[in-house]
Parts: sequence; structure tokens; C-alpha cells
Amino acid sequence: MPDYPRIVVPPPGPKARAVVMRDEQWTSSCYIKEYPLVVARGQGVMVEDVDGNRYLDFMAGIAVSSTGYGHPTVVAAVKDAADRFLHICGSDFYYEGMAALCERLARIAPGPSRKRVFLTNSGTEATEAAIKLARYATRRTAIIAFRGAFHGRTTGAVSLTSSKARQHAGFGPLLPDVHHIHYPYRYRCQWCADQPACTRGCLDVLEHDLFARHLDPHDVAAIFVEPIQGEGGYVVPPSGWLRDLRAICDTYGILLVADEVQSGVGRTGKMWACDHEGVEPDILLTAKGLGSGMPIGAMIAKESITTWESGSHGSTFGGNPVCCAAALATLDLVEGGLMANAVVMGERLQAGVRRLADKHQCIGDVRGVGLMIGAEFVKDRVTREPAPDIVRELVQRAFEHGLLLLGAGKSTLRLAPPLVVGAGDIDLALAMIDARLSEIA
Ligand SMILES: Cc1ncc(COP(=O)(O)O)c(C=O)c1O
Repeated sequence: MPDYPRIVVPPPGPKARAVVMRDEQWTSSCYIKEYPLVVARGQGVMVEDVDGNRYLDFMAGIAVSSTGYGHPTVVAAVKDAADRFLHICGSDFYYEGMAALCERLARIAPGPSRKRVFLTNSGTEATEAAIKLARYATRRTAIIAFRGAFHGRTTGAVSLTSSKARQHAGFGPLLPDVHHIHYPYRYRCQWCADQPACTRGCLDVLEHDLFARHLDPHDVAAIFVEPIQGEGGYVVPPSGWLRDLRAICDTYGILLVADEVQSGVGRTGKMWACDHEGVEPDILLTAKGLGSGMPIGAMIAKESITTWESGSHGSTFGGNPVCCAAALATLDLVEGGLMANAVVMGERLQAGVRRLADKHQCIGDVRGVGLMIGAEFVKDRVTREPAPDIVRELVQRAFEHGLLLLGAGKSTLRLAPPLVVGAGDIDLALAMIDARLSEIA
């Protein structure tokens, strides 16, 4: 029997409250803070707080702790690298870890083209690099992104983000020449309502409205797309849609940038979500789960478009040697079994959430691939009116009982446990969600 969840004092306990109070006095006012979880340590899928409460983690620090907490292989790689040197600056000098990670990422990226890799500290920096390289390589300025998209919070990336108006408010003017189009959100699609299959209405609008009336496609440098929308609500496009988007890009010489910051590194049961569709993007972005929690991201671009000159871009910390070691160890583990585990456990979890939907009318839609699963909550299954209050209440109550959850989009519960999750953990999480939903009802 696992020794979690274990609530010994209702959270936040006294030690947690002290940290929260201190944090509230000194940290910048922009942070969200979902609930008062104050972490002391973690092991596998278990997180322990400063008061000794133990939680089952089904959000993985927002889809980051891919190999779970404290995986011995990752910790050993980090310690070994830290013992040797913490920094030298990979933009200016050389070390084996950086060369090895760039080679590894270039080789495992989707498609046959030769790739080159730029290392970053985060997802948003990978997006920034892609904006710059796409403009540089094409000498075009316009960028297309999707409604509901999340590509980061720095000024360029947040211009592509279309998740919450609050993320734009007061920060303008943002990057010019950015155009947002509809994502293939089957459950709420204005073109496909009541249609048995996707009509590609959103892509028709792109070609026959946006490109015909507003924006010459030959001015478009790139289309940024999440192959599965993450922050937007774990939205999975219909099969074939990404290939059709690729075809439109090919028609007009537009670069396809796949933002796999959340969907990549094995979470969907394949290394990249693009692999499910057999699509080769021109640029692929990764971060989050790549370093098991160490800050590292990458922009993997086709060599044919990596035209920028020496000195045109760089980073002091990007590709830090300790982070490279964590990423290489993470990729070993993901390829060595965790990706396969994501398939099996993802099926178990999704089947379980579908059973919950049979029982709880407030679950309107269940979707996902591998261990990237969303359950969208509605007030009414016919009107599909979003029910954000239910998600908030569920997440809060689950926390109080020892299960870490997180919402996404307007009213979706995202389930993104570490890829090391086991069958018992899944059954436990489902039972806990079931119990909390019964209380709320
Ligand atoms: C798809 C996607 N792109 C980019 C980002 C930004 O990553 P970071 O927070 O590391 O800057 C995120 C973060 O949630 C993301 O989900």
C-alpha cells in the first residue's frame, strides 16, 4: 500500500501558513497561486508538504515533473554534472553535454530532415527564438497563432498567446502583425456543430477569408500551433487536421512551428504529439518535461531554415550543463519505458474518466492522448455552458483530501500526472475525483 495520500493536518497547516504569509509579503503580485500547497519534498508521484501531508500528484508541477520527483537516474546525473561545473556559457564555449543534447534532440525530432537545435531556459524563450528565426529565415513578418493558444509570457510569445485577456491587459502594444484564427475545438466548433466529422471549417476560413481578404499568405512567416492545446483546455484536434495545416503551410511557403512545450517528451505516448499525425514541423519547441523540472527548453529547427548568422541570437544560461545532464537522463528514461507507460496508463485513466462522465452529468467532454487528458465541465450537457465553478471546487477539495489537480481553459480539468504513474495511483485518483464530485453534486 502506498503511504500517500496522507493528510495529518488540514492544509495549509501551521508551517505552510507561515510560508504562504511570508511569500505574500515579498513575492511580486503577478503570481496566480492555485492553492496553498507548500512543498517540502517529493518522491515518484508523491509530494509532501512542510506539515507532513502527502499528496498524489496528478498535475506534475504543470506537466513538468515527467520522471516524477527525485528519480534516482535524473538526480545522479544532476549531481554528477554539478560536481564538475555549474556554468561556462554554451553560447560562447563548448561542453559535451550541450553537443550531446542538441544531437539527441535533432535525431529524435519528427521527420527525416536534418535539424539544428538552440537551447533555452524555458518554453517562452523557445517561442521567442522561433519567432526570430522564422522571420529571419523567411524575411516575412506576419505570424499566425490560434485562439486559446499559450506560447509563453515574454512580450513576443505573449503576443501569440490567446488564453486569457488578463495576460495581455496593460502590456500593449504587443508584437504587430500577429493574427489569431480558430483552433479545431470539436466540442465547441462553430462549423462542425452536429456534423459527424470535422468539416475543416476553421482551415477554410484561414484560406478563403483571412488569406483572401486580410493577409497575403506570402507575408506570413509562420503558423504557431500546439498539436494538442494545453492551457486552452487539453483540446485534441481531429485526426488529419494537423496534416492539412501542414499542407496549407507548404502551399504558401509558411513555416509550421509546433509548440510541444506541454505535449512533448513522451507525455502523449509518443515522443512528440506530431508523431501521432506523421507531421514534420519546420520548427519544434520543447521545454517543461524535458529536464524533469530542471529549467531547459529547445528550439529544434530544420537545418535548411537555420540561416541565422553567428551572434544573431544567444543565451547566457540556455543549455546550462546541469540542465543538459537532466534532459539527457530524462530522455533515456522516457525512451526506456516511460513513453510506453504513458500509453498504458493513459488508456486506463481515460477509460476511468469516461466512466466518471457516465455517472456525473457535469462532465460534458472527455478527450486526450496518453497522459494528457482533459475533462470539460458544463452546467448543462445540452447547452454546454461552461462550469468553471465546479472545476475550481473540485481542485480545491481534492487538494484538501490529498490529490493535486489543476484546471485548464475555461472549465476543463487537466490530468497530467508524472509519466511514472502506476495503475494503483490512477485508480486512487479516479476514486478521489469521483468522491469529490459526488460531494459537490
Ligand atoms: C504550449 C506551451 N508553450 C509555451 C509555454 C511557456 O513555457 P514557460 O512557462 O516555460 O515559459 C507553455 C507553458 O505553460 C506551454 O504550455
